[in-house]
Amino acid sequence: MHRRSVLKLTSAALGAACAAAIGIPGVNYVVATVRRNRSKAETVQSVIRLKDLPVGRPVAVAIRARAQDAWTVAPQQVVGHVWLLRRPGKSPAVGPKEADSKAAVSPAKVPTAGDVPPEDVDIVEAFSATCPHLGCNVVYQQDKQQFLCPCHGGAFDRHGRMVTGTALGHENPAPRGLDKLACSVVLDAISGEKWVEVRYQRFQQGATRQIVEE
Ligand code: FES
Repeated sequence: MHRRSVLKLTSAALGAACAAAIGIPGVNYVVATVRRNRSKAETVQSVIRLKDLPVGRPVAVAIRARAQDAWTVAPQQVVGHVWLLRRPGKSPAVGPKEADSKAAVSPAKVPTAGDVPPEDVDIVEAFSATCPHLGCNVVYQQDKQQFLCPCHGGAFDRHGRMVTGTALGHENPAPRGLDKLACSVVLDAISGEKWVEVRYQRFQQGATRQIVEE
């Protein structure tokens, strides 16, 4: 091989090695940052005082969490929205209070106030406001008592179940019902008030069942 060609090849190989040495850690850093930011979307937080949650009418609350990218930190960024529905229900299971400042009463089971027997409880349901089709935010339409997606006409009943195409008058593009979130009522030991606590997660769009986003 000609000497000039050998030199060209050697210098090209050295250039590629240097680019890899610089570039691969950079790519890893970006990927790690994205992963770290996505994991921040899972959060458990108290979102509303129980007394502020009306019975029978869904209420939307924002989920805020610390978000960080390579350059900036946003301590209270809105990462999603949740619809809460408080409804009357009955259950004998009211869980023990814990010694913690916020003690669990019972998952999604709330003792009602006043002279109602202790076995009578309200139930709080929590749904992600993110449409499982392609991720738009659903809104609640009181007259229809349905959650509607403004993007492609997805529709869900008050309990997050898909409305059938027959009832809708067109095909429901949603692949599944609204994603249910774990929800409980906790006691604030200082104020003595009950709060609704939600475990917020994101789920894969387009899947026929609820799968947590990695
Ligand atoms: S994003 Fe909701 S129906 Fe398409």
